[in-house]
Amino acid sequence: MVVQKSTGMRKAGMSSAGFVLGMLLIVLEVCDGGITSSYVRNDDLSLDMPLDSDVFQVPPGYNVPQQVHITQGDHEGKGVIVSWVTPDEPGSSTVIYWAENNTSLKKSAQATVLTYKYFNYTSGYIHHCTIDNLEFDTKYYYEVGTGNTARRFWFVTPPRVGPDVAYTFGLIGDLGQTHDSNDTLTHYELNPAKGQTLLFVGDLSYADDYPFHDNNRWDTWGRFIERNVAYQPWIWTAGNHEIDFVPELGESKPFKPYTNRYFVPYEASGSTSPLWYSIKRASAYIIVLSSYSAYGKYTPQYKWLEKELPIVNRTETPWLIVLMHSPLYNSYVHHYMEGESFRVMYEEWFVEYEVDVVFAGHVHAYERSERISNVAYNISNGLCTPNSDRSAPVYITIGDGGNLEGLVTEMTEPQPSYSAFREASFGHGIFDIKNRTHAFFSWHRNQDGYAVEADSLWLKNRYWNSLEDSSSLAAF
Ligand SMILES: [Fe+2]
Repeated sequence: MVVQKSTGMRKAGMSSAGFVLGMLLIVLEVCDGGITSSYVRNDDLSLDMPLDSDVFQVPPGYNVPQQVHITQGDHEGKGVIVSWVTPDEPGSSTVIYWAENNTSLKKSAQATVLTYKYFNYTSGYIHHCTIDNLEFDTKYYYEVGTGNTARRFWFVTPPRVGPDVAYTFGLIGDLGQTHDSNDTLTHYELNPAKGQTLLFVGDLSYADDYPFHDNNRWDTWGRFIERNVAYQPWIWTAGNHEIDFVPELGESKPFKPYTNRYFVPYEASGSTSPLWYSIKRASAYIIVLSSYSAYGKYTPQYKWLEKELPIVNRTETPWLIVLMHSPLYNSYVHHYMEGESFRVMYEEWFVEYEVDVVFAGHVHAYERSERISNVAYNISNGLCTPNSDRSAPVYITIGDGGNLEGLVTEMTEPQPSYSAFREASFGHGIFDIKNRTHAFFSWHRNQDGYAVEADSLWLKNRYWNSLEDSSSLAAF
């Protein structure tokens, strides 16, 4: 792999002649346009897990809480939003919680309860409870439901925000609810790298692929992922499968099921919409954007991001991560250039503010870019080829969670120079922050053993370590 070769060569301390030869070899590889993996998958559709699968099982008993899920509940990581659904009646809205190291001090917090209708579907009672002012770096148990319907879970709060706090994020996108989806989640759970929080890059349940956007599929999906998301926060990004805009069914409010079911702490970052927001977590500053909300100049999302990027304090949170659904750089045929207008709007800011990495989904495959930008183009100057740029992010597409639409295998040829590695396989990613200067990204395909890295990259922080680069192109 180009990147590992160049890194390894640096470590070995090459002679100048060897260095020149090495660089020539890299140029040749770059001119060939990076690596297209030799793994070839068939592009058959993935099969849904049967509705009577254990992963979809309704917890036994009357009105028992189900679809329990958590996400960050404030800007700094001291809050958690606990959500769940009761099917028959509202029931208890109380969350009882206590620190593992102080079991005698049990506290409670109250949830709000809502229901929504979608065409001929009426939801269960959806509870959302924000728990504030938790201690950092502490294991908490929590209970929802009462008496013999109570269910107990736990989570671990992140360490206090700081520049050298090690922390491990998982990455999944476009998950759905097929056998492949289950393989992806299992692989993530059993990865010895042990992700502590999952960054989800959009397209959750794929309920909209079923007749009349069957919202029962939001419920089955909620039960499927509970085994993980009840114990570690998933940070949500909206994708196109969350839009659910179907005026012919009388459903003309975009994102209705998604925004009713998945609350996020958007107000804590001054956002006016749950579709774009930010959080700090450990040494990372994570900005979530919406590919399917207005993003042109003067729109609410634009104005929010314009204010947001300058206030990121890289001395406090060195790692600036952006999540969105539709990738800005994608060399697969499917969805090719769909992110282009978004790129025209925001790439310049990503370079100016030295975003470390942009994660996206949407394309049902994996791809990693070089550090490149295409900001020089001004319509008339002809400079429309992405160039090596030390201040640019690495773009990683990880829409390979395993939904019913299957993999996309058709790639543009030849592989463009901005594309460092691409492969159409299902899998997940791990972004493992070591300290303020170094993080290790790895991609894990479902066919491999749990610890196998099918692609990997050391990222050097753009703010703290930008002169040395992890990208082969940017070495020039
Ligand atoms: Fe998508």
